[in-house]
Amino acid sequence: MKPRLTALPRRTRRRTECTVNTRQSVTSAQHRDFRGGAFLAVAALVIIGALLATQHGEAHKAVTSKYTYNDDVFPILRDRCSRCHVPGGVAPMSLMTYDEAFPWGESIRAELIAAHMPPWNADGGFGELKHAHALSPNELDIILTWATGGNPRGSLDQKLPAVTLVNDWTMGKPDLALPLPSEYAMPADAMEETKEFTIATGTTEARWVRAVDLLPGTPAIVRSAVIYVKTTAAPAGGPAPEQVLARWVPGLDAEPLDGGAAYRLPAGAELGVRIHYKKTWSYESKAMTDRSTVGVYFAQAGTAQEILALPLTSPALPTPDALNKSMTFSQTIDSDLQILALSPEQVPANITLQVQAVLPNGTRAPMIRLNTRADWARRYWFERPLALPRGSKIEVTANLVDPDLMSTAFGSPAAPKATGPSTLRLALNVIPAGAKAVAP
Ligand code: HEC
Repeated sequence: MKPRLTALPRRTRRRTECTVNTRQSVTSAQHRDFRGGAFLAVAALVIIGALLATQHGEAHKAVTSKYTYNDDVFPILRDRCSRCHVPGGVAPMSLMTYDEAFPWGESIRAELIAAHMPPWNADGGFGELKHAHALSPNELDIILTWATGGNPRGSLDQKLPAVTLVNDWTMGKPDLALPLPSEYAMPADAMEETKEFTIATGTTEARWVRAVDLLPGTPAIVRSAVIYVKTTAAPAGGPAPEQVLARWVPGLDAEPLDGGAAYRLPAGAELGVRIHYKKTWSYESKAMTDRSTVGVYFAQAGTAQEILALPLTSPALPTPDALNKSMTFSQTIDSDLQILALSPEQVPANITLQVQAVLPNGTRAPMIRLNTRADWARRYWFERPLALPRGSKIEVTANLVDPDLMSTAFGSPAAPKATGPSTLRLALNVIPAGAKAVAP
């Protein structure tokens, strides 16, 4: 029989209680392998286990945390992490019971310190965004204290409520539910794939749309989706009708437009749906399938102001070997605009982007500061529309130095080097000031 090295838990390196986990696996490997006389294999596992344990030396850590899982940590994980870290969710492991969560103490610490989890990526305190997902300082303090202070459980007889995956429309049943035309089959040996689907809406007249959402068929592998109106019109340089109806990521509530703005859905439009499928290590080597559904919510009013997209494109980026630089570019707007949202459309992963508006009188208004990460690009909505007079400049500074020094220092996975597009492109969603509501 072959040595069952795979019996070692994946990611042992980053679990806090390596000794415990390694020993458990060794025991089950012994059951399977001793009959085959694979004593050496078991010995190898024990040695590897011991090495891993000494390397981290945290197995017998004293309990110093005054916070316990049951009383303090669980409520936060349930509120902030359970959209993804539940059985069947998009994240690789559940954190909803003590037994599932405590081996991840070390990894939780690293991810939270690097501000990777929960995925949000915009810095607090620079611009005001809706639905910011960052943890409060108090929540952060509780989790870090617990994660580094021996991971105490709390009372053994305390029953916690079961937390299960919620996979449902966040805005209620849509007006139009459009399943993907066919099931997508992800082969056992694939880890990620991007697929493009076309869906006919079957509408007979033009309609105003206030929101578009996605309901994943298999939430564990649907990482992100872009849903857009297919059109043959060439993209214009200035503000043009917004074709992207949704940038979906897991855990995101659909954002209904209000205040009279809407997306225009032409009669008989076809929707393009680009889905990024990705398995985490817990589904490695498993064949999976998905058939997600797109939900369209029509605006109630017959008239609306059409939401437009204004592209912000950089000059050519420095070559990858000249990446330790920052670059600034700006674009002047030539009419009065209300700015509603911003999306990174084409940006390298793991760079920092700062966007601010410079008004004609020189006043600066912070808009957003973002650490870009592959997979988690979304549309960021401003808390209040930003009114910019004609002649204002939108100034973008891209810091191309890998910002992931923190995660390197704290042992979370090294961020891939910034590579990719040769120009940066962001898009602003705007409405011309004083635009009249019209029929679609
Ligand atoms: C929107 C979904 C989502 C939310 C919310 C979320 N996570 Fe995650 N988490 C993921 C995914 C997906 C991964 C796998 C890595 C990746 O793609 O970034 C992950 C990875 C992790 C990892 C590393 C696992 C590994 O394989 O090394 C830790 C630790 C973690 N999350 C902790 C948390 C904590 C703690 C919270 C809440 C405070 C949280 N996450 C909230 C989706 C989420």
